[in-house]
Amino acid sequence: MSDLRIMSVFGTRPEAIKMAPLVQELSRREGVRSLCCVTAQHREMLDSVLDIFRLRPDFDLNIMEPRQTLSTITSKCLTGMDRVLEEAKPDIVLVHGDTSTTFAGALSAFYHRIPVGHVEAGLRTYDKYSPYPEEMNRRMVGAIAELHFCPTAANRENLERETISKGVFLTGNTVIDALQTTVVKDFTFADNTLNHLDYANRKVILVTCHRRENYGQPMEDIMSALAHIARTNPEVDIVYPVHLSPAVQECAHRHLDGIENVHLIPPLDVREMHNLMARCYIVMTDSGGLQEEAPALGKPVLVMRRETERPEAVAAGTVKLAGVEYERIVELAEELLGDPAAYAAMAHAVNPYGDGQACRRIADAILWHFGRGERPADFGG
Ligand code: UD1
Ligand code: UDP
Repeated sequence: MSDLRIMSVFGTRPEAIKMAPLVQELSRREGVRSLCCVTAQHREMLDSVLDIFRLRPDFDLNIMEPRQTLSTITSKCLTGMDRVLEEAKPDIVLVHGDTSTTFAGALSAFYHRIPVGHVEAGLRTYDKYSPYPEEMNRRMVGAIAELHFCPTAANRENLERETISKGVFLTGNTVIDALQTTVVKDFTFADNTLNHLDYANRKVILVTCHRRENYGQPMEDIMSALAHIARTNPEVDIVYPVHLSPAVQECAHRHLDGIENVHLIPPLDVREMHNLMARCYIVMTDSGGLQEEAPALGKPVLVMRRETERPEAVAAGTVKLAGVEYERIVELAEELLGDPAAYAAMAHAVNPYGDGQACRRIADAILWHFGRGERPADFGG
């Protein structure tokens, strides 16, 4: 029997972090030829993850440009993927999540009549414009994919509601697999500011913010709220690794430069980020990935968005939806900073998103689909 050719396609930082342990798992499997194609929708932020996980892509479309638009990302991915798929002839293409790379990768595979496996399938808000464009990206990929790897039971129920029930697997999220390899007890940061922060006696707030639907007024309000929190709480240090998007850089620096207890730093590599998260007091973010990682590390999270497609940690009590309005963000942060009972109620480790075995289940499920192994048991089942 010839090797099964499995091609993983990804392009941004979070896709890379969540696909890296799966690519590694597939490379270890007998009878599998694991291929890796990056679109490089992100460049520096992608390369940093490739370095940490020692991944060497077989194909690199190198599409990123400054202030790129949704149309240019999608069209450059589609054009680039044609040649790659013709040359590599994979038996299946794996895409992850809900970025423009995810959508274009799945669409391209469909154009070439190659089956698609969707990792992190079934997340939904049912609001077309929030998150934008991710909600539509993942729905369109759901319609294209043959195999759907759902992190949680609620994700699987979303697909069932859309009458997608064939080829659905409950696997957990691969981000928990990644997290288990990165957090260590005595970690030394490359940036000395982070080594010298007094994590035991001061309250370190870890911030990230980048979503397109937050561009404009919501982001202005978020940054003003952070400035207010820093100025009125001298016991706090805000550490904010700022996303390289020029829109975000401009807004963050305009509001937060020059405030003594705000540390605006370049994006961290994933090991640094996970270890900083493990040491911080609170997380304030609009990121998807951080909403999954912080609960596993027992850190309270305030989500600076109007909705979330990750309700599991909200139900578990470790995540609160703060919205994007100045007053509410300040109010919830002040409550966590000033009320030990409110803090204790949110600061417990929960793991609704995975048990570190998601990659094994996904690899098993693919092999089962091609008649080469047993069907894996569900996560949590
Ligand atoms: C993208 C995804 C979003 C995901 C996010 C993760 C889409 C439409 N959006 O949004 O779902 O949550 O990645 O971070 O797919 N840049 C650099 N270097 C880098 C990365 C980005 O300079 O390594 C700058 C470039 O100017 C680029 C801009 O950031 O044009 C925006 O990048 P883009 O991928 O379009 O959007 P994100 O906001 O990163
Ligand atoms: N991350 C990182 N360095 C940073 C900020 C985030 O390594 O400076 C990691 C984070 O731990 C998570 C992922 O990047 O695993 C989340 O990416 P992002 O917030 O860019 O995208 P989203 O998850 O919202 O799609």
